[in-house]
Amino acid sequence: LNIFFEIHKDIPREGPGSDYYTRAMFNSIGHKSGNRIKVLDIGCGPGQQTLALARCGSVTITAIDTHQPFLDELNRRAVGAGLADSITTRNMSMFELDLPDESFDVIWAEGSIYIISPDKGLTNFARFLKPGGHIGFTHVAWIREDPPGEIISFWEEEQCEVLTVKENESKIAGAGYNLLRTEILPPSAWTDQYYYPVEERLDRLAAAYRDDEEAMNEIEVTRHEIEMFNRYHEWYSYVFYLAEKPK
Ligand SMILES: C[S@@+](CC[C@H](N)C(=O)[O-])C[C@H]1O[C@@H](n2cnc3c(N)ncnc32)[C@H](O)[C@@H]1O
Repeated sequence: LNIFFEIHKDIPREGPGSDYYTRAMFNSIGHKSGNRIKVLDIGCGPGQQTLALARCGSVTITAIDTHQPFLDELNRRAVGAGLADSITTRNMSMFELDLPDESFDVIWAEGSIYIISPDKGLTNFARFLKPGGHIGFTHVAWIREDPPGEIISFWEEEQCEVLTVKENESKIAGAGYNLLRTEILPPSAWTDQYYYPVEERLDRLAAAYRDDEEAMNEIEVTRHEIEMFNRYHEWYSYVFYLAEKPK
């Protein structure tokens, strides 16, 4: 649907996150100096976190996504930032990763593991990590007890199973990883580079598409999502997890 990409094109991120958390989680891996760190960034979108990782130093990143315009955008941004040497983009699905086993030190999946589900992602991605390698990913979770019915229904309608942070941490352990760090993203990680820039364009798009029922419906869905966030963000957020594949 074209309107979906009009709502989402040319914004820094396609999900909650911030450079501060990308860097903090990556740096807490504590890499020893030596060879360049090989990173696989899954579902990179326009690449805000890819660029933040590339700025962390001695890294070589393979960034994959299935939406070519996002990959083109990331390539443009990488050239503009002088980081093109560290980043290679590939149009590849996370369901069919055509990559050698045990070839990455780090796998990154910000705001994208929901597409395959954390269960399957954690299990399927492990074989591409070297023993002792790390996985960093974000996923929605309840961060407060007793969420109101309206926000439970919202996430059910999104067909996204929302669990508590503890339940997600158990899944990570259950998939065989050692959990190293968990961080709940603050509301600013949803707004500054994501909801605010999206919101800014909705009125203009609503005027342009007012006779297009399907487009107006998509605009309404986006407005509703942001309204739910404004009302209920004390109960849920994206949570960043960093875990290690045992040696
Ligand atoms: C919510 S966005 C997150 C993007 C980015 N990581 C960020 O945080 O800004 C999810 C991304 O996953 C991509 N995607 C969707 N299905 C995919 C698949 N099967 N394999 C790889 N990427 C996929 C989308 O094109 C989109 O860029």
